[in-house]
Amino acid sequence: MRASVLLACLASLAASATKCDPKFFTPYLDSNASIVYARTFSSNETFVGPLANYTGLPDYCAVYVNVSSSTDSSYEFSVWLPTSTWNKRYMAYGNGGFTGQIAFGDMAPGINYGFAVVSTNTGHNSSVTEAGDAGWALHKPETRTDWGWRALHGSVALGKTLTKAFYSHDIEYSYYAGCSTGGRQGLKSVQMFPDDFDGVLAGACAWWTSHQQNWDLKVALDNLPNDAPGHITADLMNVLADEVMRQCDGVDGVVDNIIMDGYACQFRPEALLCNSTSTNTSTCFNAAQVDTINHVYGDWIETNQTFVFPSFAWGAEAQVSEMIITTDDDVDAPSGIAYPRDFVYNDATWPGDHLDLATIELSDRLNPGNATADDYDLRPFQTRGGKLIHYHGFADGEIPTGSSIYYYQQVQKTMVPLGYDLDEFYRFFLIPGMEHCMDSTHDAPWYIGSANQPSALTGDNVWGVPGYRDRKHDAVLALMAWVEKGIAPTELIATQYVDNTPALGVQAQRRTCPYPQHAAYVGGNWNETQSFNCV
Ligand SMILES: *[C@@H]1O[C@H](CO)[C@@H](O)[C@H](O)[C@H]1NC(C)=O
Ligand SMILES: *[C@@H]1O[C@H](CO)[C@@H](O)[C@H](O)[C@H]1NC(C)=O
Ligand SMILES: *[C@@H]1O[C@H](CO)[C@@H](O)[C@H](O)[C@H]1NC(C)=O
Ligand SMILES: *[C@@H]1O[C@H](CO)[C@@H](O)[C@H](O)[C@H]1NC(C)=O
Ligand SMILES: *[C@@H]1O[C@H](CO)[C@@H](O)[C@H](O)[C@H]1NC(C)=O
Ligand SMILES: *[C@@H]1O[C@H](CO)[C@@H](O)[C@H](O)[C@H]1NC(C)=O
Ligand SMILES: *[C@@H]1O[C@H](CO)[C@@H](O)[C@H](O)[C@H]1NC(C)=O
Ligand SMILES: *[C@@H]1O[C@H](CO)[C@@H](O)[C@H](O)[C@H]1NC(C)=O
Ligand SMILES: *[C@@H]1O[C@H](CO)[C@@H](O)[C@H](O)[C@H]1NC(C)=O
Ligand SMILES: *[C@@H]1O[C@H](CO)[C@@H](O)[C@H](O)[C@H]1NC(C)=O
Repeated sequence: MRASVLLACLASLAASATKCDPKFFTPYLDSNASIVYARTFSSNETFVGPLANYTGLPDYCAVYVNVSSSTDSSYEFSVWLPTSTWNKRYMAYGNGGFTGQIAFGDMAPGINYGFAVVSTNTGHNSSVTEAGDAGWALHKPETRTDWGWRALHGSVALGKTLTKAFYSHDIEYSYYAGCSTGGRQGLKSVQMFPDDFDGVLAGACAWWTSHQQNWDLKVALDNLPNDAPGHITADLMNVLADEVMRQCDGVDGVVDNIIMDGYACQFRPEALLCNSTSTNTSTCFNAAQVDTINHVYGDWIETNQTFVFPSFAWGAEAQVSEMIITTDDDVDAPSGIAYPRDFVYNDATWPGDHLDLATIELSDRLNPGNATADDYDLRPFQTRGGKLIHYHGFADGEIPTGSSIYYYQQVQKTMVPLGYDLDEFYRFFLIPGMEHCMDSTHDAPWYIGSANQPSALTGDNVWGVPGYRDRKHDAVLALMAWVEKGIAPTELIATQYVDNTPALGVQAQRRTCPYPQHAAYVGGNWNETQSFNCV
C-alpha cells in the first residue's frame, strides 16, 4: 500500500518535470498567446528577478506567457507552479502605481505557502522607480485597458487553465493579494469578476482613479511655485511632524509615538505661526504656509461644494513631505500630472495648472481603461460566497486613509439598506502608524504579511509572518481561514520586528480591529498585544 502510494507520487513528480516545457503548455493557449519560457527551478536555485534575486524557494515550474490583447497591445504574465509542495490553491498578486512589472517580490514569498502564484506586467514594462510615470499610456487606449483590468483578469483566467493542466487537478481555492494599485485591482476584480477569487486581500486601494490621480496633482499644486510665500520646505514638514505628534499622540490615551486615529485629532496648525519670540523662520510658519497645510490636509472640495477627494490623516507627514515637495520647480509638469495628461486629455503638452472641476468631470466621463473601481454594490461577490479583507495604514502619505474609509462607507450605504451585513463578507482594518502599504517612521507595528510587505523586511527568503504563522498575525492565513473554515477575522495583530529584521526578534505587536471598531488602550506595556482591545 505504502509502496504503491510512493510509486504514484514519484510518477507524478516525474510527470511534473516533463510537463514543465513549452510543448506541454502550448496546446492550452489560443493563438493570441504564446509561451515565452517554461522551465523547472530546482529547490534553492536562484531566480534572478529585475529588482532582487530569490533563493531558498521550493522546486517549481516557472512559466512565462505573452498574450496579445488587441491588435495594438499585449501583456505578459508569469505563473510559478510548486512541483512537490502545491497546496492545491492559487494566489494572484497585484501591482503598484503605473508600474508595469511582474510582482516576483510577492510570488517568491507566495510559493513558500505552497500556492501556485501568478502576476502580470499589466500590459507594459516600466520599473518601480517609474511608478508615477504613465508615458506608456499616451495614445494607447488598449494598453490603458490592460492596466485598468484586462491584463489581471486575463492572466488569472489563463493561469488557472495552465495550473489545472499541470497538476491534472482542480484548484480548490483562489485568492488575491495586492496593495495600492494592487488594492484597486483587487476591488476591481470583486466588482467586475466576482468569480475570479474566493478571497481578496486589498490594501491602501487606489480605487477612485478618476479622482485620486487628479488629487495627486492637486496637492502638488497646493505647494507650488517653490518661491510662493506659502511654500512648505522639507524643514518645515519636519517641524509640522513634531507638532502633530505633540498635539495628537496622547488623544488615544497613550503617549507612544503612535497616533491611533489621525482624523480624531483636532490639530491646530496655528500653533506653528511665527511670533515675536521666534528666532528662526525655518522652524515657524507664516500665515500663507499655515494655509497651505490646511489645503493639503483638507478634503478637496471644488466649485459648487462638490466633494472630490478626502485628504490625509494627521501623522502621515513623513510621506506627505515626499508627495508635495519637489526639488525642481516644475510648475509646467509637477508630480501627479501623469494621469490627466497621459490618460484623460491624451495630450503631452497639457499644462498641469489647468486642473479644475472640469478635469474631474471629464475623467469620470472617460474613465480611461475603466480603471476606477467605484462600484459599491458587491452583491454578486457576496452571493458567490466571496470574502474581502481590506486594510489601510493611518500614516499613509501617498493615498489618503480616508479614501478607503469612504469606500467602505459607500458599500455600507449601498448594501446595508438592502439587508446585507458587511461583517459577513467584508472586513476593513485600519493600521495606526503604517505608511503606504508597509513600514512606519515611528516603529508602529505594521507587518501583517500582505502583498509588498515581505520585500520590506531584511533577511533571506522572508515570507508570511516569521514566528507567527497563524491567522491572527498573517492576513493571508486570516483570509484562508475565513474562506475555507468560515472563521471571520475579529482582529489582525500587526508586528514590528526589530529593525524590520525578523531574525532580530519582535519589538512590538498590536491589535488592529475590523472597522468601525478600533483598538483601545487598556493599560500595561503598549508594545504588547494584550494592552489593546478591540472595542
Ligand atoms: C536548501 O537550502 C536549505 C538552507 O540552506 C537547506 O536546509 C536545504 O537542505 C536545501 N535544499 C536542497 C534540496 O538543497
Ligand atoms: C542577481 O544575480 C545576478 C547574477 O548572479 C547579479 O548580476 C545581480 O546583480 C543580482 N541582483 C541583485 C539585485 O542582487
Ligand atoms: C509579446 O507579443 C508582442 C506582440 O504581440 C511583442 O511586441 C512582444 O515583444 C512580445 N513579448 C515577449 C516577451 O515575447
Ligand atoms: C484570445 O482569443 C480567444 C479566442 O478567440 C478569446 O476568447 C480571448 O478573449 C482572447 N484573449 C485575449 C486576451 O484577447
Ligand atoms: C518586458 O520585460 C521582460 C523582462 O522582465 C522581457 O522579457 C520582455 O521582453 C519585455 N516585454 C516587452 C514588450 O518589452
Ligand atoms: C534654522 O533652522 C533650520 C532647520 O532646523 C536649521 O537648519 C538652521 O541652521 C537654523 N538657523 C539658525 C540661524 O539657527
Ligand atoms: C511663539 O511661537 C513658537 C513656535 O515658533 C511657540 O513655541 C511659542 O509658544 C509661541 N509663543 C507665543 C507667545 O505664542
Ligand atoms: C455651479 O452651479 C451653478 C448654479 O447651479 C451652475 O450655473 C454652474 O454651472 C455650476 N458650476 C460648475 C462648475 O459646475
Ligand atoms: C467598468 O467596471 C465596472 C466595475 O468597476 C463594471 O461594473 C463595468 O461593467 C465596467 N464597464 C465596462 C464598459 O467594462
Ligand atoms: C516599547 O518599545 C520601545 C522600542 O523598543 C521602547 O523604547 C519602549 O520603552 C517600550 N515601551 C515600553 C512601555 O516598554
